[in-house]
Amino acid sequence: MKLILLGYMGCGKSAISKSLSHQLNSKRIDLDDYIEKREGMKIADIFAKKGEIYFRKLETTCLEELLDSKEDFILSLGGGTPCFGTNMELINEKSTSVYLSANIPTLVARLLPEKSKRPLIARINDDDLPEFIGKHLFERRPFYLQAKIAVSVDQKSVNGIAKEIVAAL
Ligand code: S3P
Repeated sequence: MKLILLGYMGCGKSAISKSLSHQLNSKRIDLDDYIEKREGMKIADIFAKKGEIYFRKLETTCLEELLDSKEDFILSLGGGTPCFGTNMELINEKSTSVYLSANIPTLVARLLPEKSKRPLIARINDDDLPEFIGKHLFERRPFYLQAKIAVSVDQKSVNGIAKEIVAAL
């Protein structure tokens, strides 16, 4: 089985996929890492040097490549992956998808110290971050909500969330 974790930046996709890969004894792939290795560049540099449109095309190519492979894995996506082109349809056709739903205070608390790693929020003022995330999530949630399973992550432990996902599969 291919299991895909999706949700907004900072919702815990990578940490939860690590715990799931232990619990399910399954290989784990992070789409951003896969893109960085393939391109030989950090995500922030791809955005800065080649632009977001280039990144989105590359992201879709890498997603398709992984979904077409024969192996099984747990794949954590980038926050925007399900929201472009027909990526969400493809995800649901070829994997079991899980939306990790986090509320705005959770996302703000996690993203404030890590803004610089993420090109889409790096230049937003700290005080403006809650409003930015609120608007952005409003646009993206319709895509996230197409996932087969939704799990709320607020105030829960990583291992507890992973167990909840295993029980829902
Ligand atoms: C993005 C999220 C990032 C990364 C890129 C774009 C987005 O991944 O793919 O910076 O559009 O939300 P994380 O969700 O792992 O931060």
